[in-house]
Amino acid sequence: MTGELSPIDKAKFVAAKRAVDFVEDGMKVGLGTGSTAAWMVRCLGERVREEGLRIKGVPTSARTAMLAREVGIDVISLDQARWLDVTIDGADEFDGEFNLIKGGGGALLQEKIVATASDRMIVITDASKEVETLGAFPLPVEVIPFGWQTSKALLEELLISLDVMGRETTLRMNGAVAYVTDEGNHILDLHLNRIGNARQLAMALNQIPGVVENGLFMDICDTVVIGYGDGRVETRDINEGSVQHDRLDFVEADNLFTDLSD
Ligand code: A5P
Repeated sequence: MTGELSPIDKAKFVAAKRAVDFVEDGMKVGLGTGSTAAWMVRCLGERVREEGLRIKGVPTSARTAMLAREVGIDVISLDQARWLDVTIDGADEFDGEFNLIKGGGGALLQEKIVATASDRMIVITDASKEVETLGAFPLPVEVIPFGWQTSKALLEELLISLDVMGRETTLRMNGAVAYVTDEGNHILDLHLNRIGNARQLAMALNQIPGVVENGLFMDICDTVVIGYGDGRVETRDINEGSVQHDRLDFVEADNLFTDLSD
């Protein structure tokens, strides 16, 4: 029930609700992964069911695919879609240039491919994810299982020469065993605290044998939609240089927020 949500979940909900306004009939839409993206999938499903919105959704994880089908979205693969109109996804951090850290939910590989294959990427978030400099959130790096400890050692060696504040690297676990991504890989979380040159780091990481992809999303995001627990929403667009303020009002009776754009 939306009425029982914490302020942070309300913030995620209103960001998601606002972002789906950008989806138009006939669009091919990349569907992100994570708790904020899950709200967006539910909101999109609602538009499909109630307005008859016709879209094709390309999920970025098995769990998003399952949710999308549950809420009535027509799901296709990226290979079927080839190119998308828009992708809407969450993020773990974003900076003033809309560069991101993603992958806290382990889906960074598909997320990066899908977002890169989209005309527009919209990030939905609460205000706590905005940072001056990326890096407080551990940076996820997806590595293939073969020789992952060697990849980890090479990665730690690389970090010595780079402008980062921390160098601890941990294998992501799922209980007692290593976490396995949808692609059958592992994730190394890099506890860097502060990334001085994210662009350089993103390129260097992908040169390490065994590294499949890293969670730095540079120059991919176009729009950030920031939700607040009181229903306010701020939409920033980097291409237009615009900032728009809206307020979504929660209607207890039907569990929806009504757009009262100001
Ligand atoms: C999934 O792999 C991530 O990139 C998520 O988009 C990110 O972790 C944000 O997740 P939440 O919306 O759950 O905070």
